[in-house]
Amino acid sequence: MLTEYHCHVLPGIDDGADKVETSLAMLDIMKEQGVEKVIFTPHFYCHRERSVERFLEKRQEAFEAIKDKSPIKNMLLGAEVAIENGLSEVKDIEKLAVQGTKLILLELPYRDYADWMSEEIYNISAEYSLKIILAHVHRYLEYYSKEQLEKILSSECIMQVNNEAFTSWSEKKMVKNIIKDGRTIVFGSDAHNISDRKPNWDILQKKVKPEIIEASDSVLGKFDVKK
Ligand SMILES: [Fe+2]
Repeated sequence: MLTEYHCHVLPGIDDGADKVETSLAMLDIMKEQGVEKVIFTPHFYCHRERSVERFLEKRQEAFEAIKDKSPIKNMLLGAEVAIENGLSEVKDIEKLAVQGTKLILLELPYRDYADWMSEEIYNISAEYSLKIILAHVHRYLEYYSKEQLEKILSSECIMQVNNEAFTSWSEKKMVKNIIKDGRTIVFGSDAHNISDRKPNWDILQKKVKPEIIEASDSVLGKFDVKK
């Protein structure tokens, strides 16, 4: 079941879909491209939010606005949580895991790597027994040194890859190496709209072998909370 692990489809909650019509248009495109299951991952920045609880309320309201009209019926709520210093100590942070699973999507900062980032990742996984998914790892090629990237890639995290990585020579090379190393990968469109950052599952299916995509689809079930 083709699964979308990373997108900004929920209306009016972040820099993704601005209104219900945009959300539904994005879901229509995804459906046409074969997506059958979607995890909604609006941005969560702890320095901007009043509390996790309030964020979850806003997320629920945005979801209510589209859930009955969505052309894709298999939907789960999650978040793209920005790694900030002290994140692991934020109250209720574990509630940002993908609904019904032990998976949480974390986004590294776009700045020089620092050890506190690894510490936050470790603390969140250890304290709450969560499996970390690192968002679009290929986007950090220009920020981190080779050693820092290797340190990140050698961690136990699941690597999330944006479909558009396959349109860039250097990013594609990095992703192919991650695949070759046998790392667990999940794919996402990271779609924000229906113009310059629209759903792009057509790219992935053209560039990647079906078994690699199927492996991504199967990750969700392996981290069900009931297991
Ligand atoms: Fe994102």
